[in-house]
Amino acid sequence: MSMTETKGPRPNVMKAFFKLLPTAFLAEPFLFILCQLVSIAHGFSWGITTLVTQRFFDTAELMARGMADMAAVAMSLLMLGLIYFSNQVLNGVGNFLPQVYGEKALGKIQQGINEKMARISPVCFEDTKMLDDINKANEGKNHAVFFVILVTFVFTFYIPYFLFMGWYLFSLKPILALAIVIVFIPAMTSQVLRSKVYAGLEDKAAPIRRQFEYYEGCIAGREYFKETRLLGAFGFFMRLYRQALELLNKERWKATFKTSMYELLMKVLALAGYLLILFMLFEALMGQEISTGAFTAVFASLGALFEIMEEVVCRHAGNIAQQLGTIQNYLNFLEIPERGGSDTVVDPDCDIRLVDVSFSYPSAESPAVKNASFTIKKGETIAIVGENGSGKTTIVRLITGLYLPDKGYVLHGDKKTSDISLKYLFKNISGVFQKYQKYQLTLGDNISISDTSLVPEEDYLDRVSSMSGLDPKDEAFVNGYDTMLSREFDGVDISGGQWQRVAIARGFYRPHNIIVLDEPTAAIDPLEEKRIYERFARIAKDKTAIIVTHRLGSVRLADRIIVMDKGEVVDIGTHEELIDRCSKYSEMWESQAKYYV
Ligand SMILES: Nc1ncnc2c1ncn2[C@@H]1O[C@H](COP(=O)(O)OP(=O)(O)O)[C@@H](O)[C@H]1O
Ligand SMILES: [Mg+2]
Repeated sequence: MSMTETKGPRPNVMKAFFKLLPTAFLAEPFLFILCQLVSIAHGFSWGITTLVTQRFFDTAELMARGMADMAAVAMSLLMLGLIYFSNQVLNGVGNFLPQVYGEKALGKIQQGINEKMARISPVCFEDTKMLDDINKANEGKNHAVFFVILVTFVFTFYIPYFLFMGWYLFSLKPILALAIVIVFIPAMTSQVLRSKVYAGLEDKAAPIRRQFEYYEGCIAGREYFKETRLLGAFGFFMRLYRQALELLNKERWKATFKTSMYELLMKVLALAGYLLILFMLFEALMGQEISTGAFTAVFASLGALFEIMEEVVCRHAGNIAQQLGTIQNYLNFLEIPERGGSDTVVDPDCDIRLVDVSFSYPSAESPAVKNASFTIKKGETIAIVGENGSGKTTIVRLITGLYLPDKGYVLHGDKKTSDISLKYLFKNISGVFQKYQKYQLTLGDNISISDTSLVPEEDYLDRVSSMSGLDPKDEAFVNGYDTMLSREFDGVDISGGQWQRVAIARGFYRPHNIIVLDEPTAAIDPLEEKRIYERFARIAKDKTAIIVTHRLGSVRLADRIIVMDKGEVVDIGTHEELIDRCSKYSEMWESQAKYYV
């Protein structure tokens, strides 16, 4: 993937932080603030440790010279004990609280993701790059909360602590303050490099991971499993799977190797710095520039200083760098265009008009629908016919407003589909599509899920079932509408044909003025399809119906037929008219007539 293709800004810690901060705070305000308070107290406690250590050794030295009594030493020892104890407690609480906060906040952030998903333009899901962003967003969200906490800790704990230590060292002897710089610079440099490496890795890994998860699905997923077995394609997918996995691991290994080298370099530099400071400290002690207590306190806290720096740099900054790529993906996801339009009520009994409509899929070179113009009158039954890939499904998505045209516009009544929010647009529309969902729910729920605001009544369920050629008393449905349609939940498996009838019933169940049937009948034989469509047409007389099919047996019941070829509407008319004048149509008819005689 080239740089120019990479959408959105490159990862930037502070930008990402400020974008995430409100979300992270609002998700759990109380716990968030509590985490910060503990962190501040923790930083304080570390600073005081240094002062108390110095005081203890200075008092001990005074006592050795007979200038202080045992009580004073015992007192400062007690203080040392207390401060160590408080360090331990704060450390424990400080580790535990962010976990609690994180878990709670994550739930709220996930909810935000789901809400956002519902607002994204449906066409974005056709775009592989956007699918990458969506896929990566979920991973990024997990890191995002801890990232925010960690960055706030930099401000509430690490920076104050280092500032304090800088001040303390400076007050002993200015040159000693250099220690802070010496531990900081090499570490930070290596982390900046590290963040670059991991952002690059994430860009490379996401498409590979998607492939690899897909192959995994083909091998072990329930839906593909049977067919993969049947085709004997196991080995084939295993090979692809292994290749993708190897590629992924290779990229990961390269990134790990690079960052390890940077880290090694950083550690060597830091070690040299440590020795240098010890030497300066020793010199200061010899020159009687600092007291023994100060020497000891610095000596002891240098250990802590390096440990904490190690924690910031190698663990936290390392994690941040590694996660910043995916966090940025989460932020990119939040910026995926949402479908606009306002909540305006559309007259349910309206004509639908397409005016010079063209549409291309995000990744496609040629348009899937070109310059389509026609009107569907309210209550009309329209059939759309054409070969596979001629653009039938796409034009249906444009008619319903699921997708918006690149050129031209679609009117529902006097309103453009681009001006109506999805929620309002679909208020009176129902549909059954080629790729319908098989929910692991009961038969009744599988039908009534298309409108959860209705209370499913048996009479109504019976009616839509009979329209769909579905018999709830069939022996496949052991408990009628209460039959669980999932093996995994102690239910039953039903055939593909039965599933299609369930999907059709689901479409009929949803109250609608406009209904679309986009070849939901592939697994049902042509004559049964004809019967279903005819029954449906009789009942849905006053409703606008759009039937998509490449089988012509049922098209004669349509008021008009739209013939599509290579994305273009080649003709519109009744069956008789088209037989006379449309060669594309009459060819299709002749080749299929034998099935229906
Ligand atoms: N998600 C997609 N991305 C790119 N091209 C697509 C996508 N879906 C469909 N197409 C292309 O658009 C054209 C029309 O497809 P479609 O509307 O599904 O045809 P039909 O329903 O008549 O089989 C085809 O050339 C198809 O390859
Ligand atoms: Mg189609």
